[in-house]
Amino acid sequence: MAQQCTVPAVRARKGGVPLVMVTAYDAPSARIADDAGVDLILVGDSVAMVVLGYEDTLQVTVEDMAHHVAAVARTHPRPLVVADLPWLSYHLGEADTVRNAAALIRAGAQAVKLEGGAKRVAVVRALVDAEIPVMGHLGLTPQSLHAMGGFKVQGRDAAAARVLVADARSLADAGCFSIVLEGVPDRVARMVTEAVEVPTVGIGAGPWCDGQVLVFHDVVGLEDRITPKFVRRYGSLKADAVAALGAFAEDVRARRFPSDAESYHLPDGVSLAGAEVEVGELYGGGAAAVGGI
Ligand code: KIV
Repeated sequence: MAQQCTVPAVRARKGGVPLVMVTAYDAPSARIADDAGVDLILVGDSVAMVVLGYEDTLQVTVEDMAHHVAAVARTHPRPLVVADLPWLSYHLGEADTVRNAAALIRAGAQAVKLEGGAKRVAVVRALVDAEIPVMGHLGLTPQSLHAMGGFKVQGRDAAAARVLVADARSLADAGCFSIVLEGVPDRVARMVTEAVEVPTVGIGAGPWCDGQVLVFHDVVGLEDRITPKFVRRYGSLKADAVAALGAFAEDVRARRFPSDAESYHLPDGVSLAGAEVEVGELYGGGAAAVGGI
């Protein structure tokens, strides 16, 4: 992908070549996603669980998200940067929502994502009215963890599937340019995808969405504690990193690191005469002279 990816370009991919979205929460991962040619970078509130060590996504604030968005945006990536509106940043009214979304846009996002269906129509309209592009998120919506009774697949019967279709249509009609479908049966995701004119991006939603999203750390194998059914690992960076750090530790302990070539040297002819320090100065005891610097 040579050109900057834009909201209209994403919108135009409905039914075409599948969109590729991956999370990134910092500059190195944003550069990797850019070099790999993905279409969208999601600065997801999953940063709470993946990077910050929380048990759920409810702990991050707009300020936390802006911090991570800014790190990603400073790399000027070609993928479209979408930032998650965290829990409670779009639940307290339209003005509050627009103000919070604006903070993420000013931090460098080009669009925001929020969770929920028909009940979010008013805030989606307010954001679109403020020229802020919005991506919807339906199905397993992690910010509804407690209401759902856990991270559970949604839309598992005909009635629930109908609600998902109606929610997706409401979001699209309100102006969402794309909708994430998370944790729904593949045939239900297909129904939703066929029911809306904007692209759907699936995660744990089967192959018939208009695109797919995964968490960066899952794809590259930096996170290896659990592997959900819907994750395919394409790397083993955690194992590589453990091996690299283990080799470093062995070299340090065996005094194989640093080598002469990895050390700085005084210029030829520079003498350290007079620079010796007393052991007492260094360690608060003894009086024997030791070498300087
Ligand atoms: O925060 C996140 O990573 C997400 C994806 C799972 C879609 O919302």
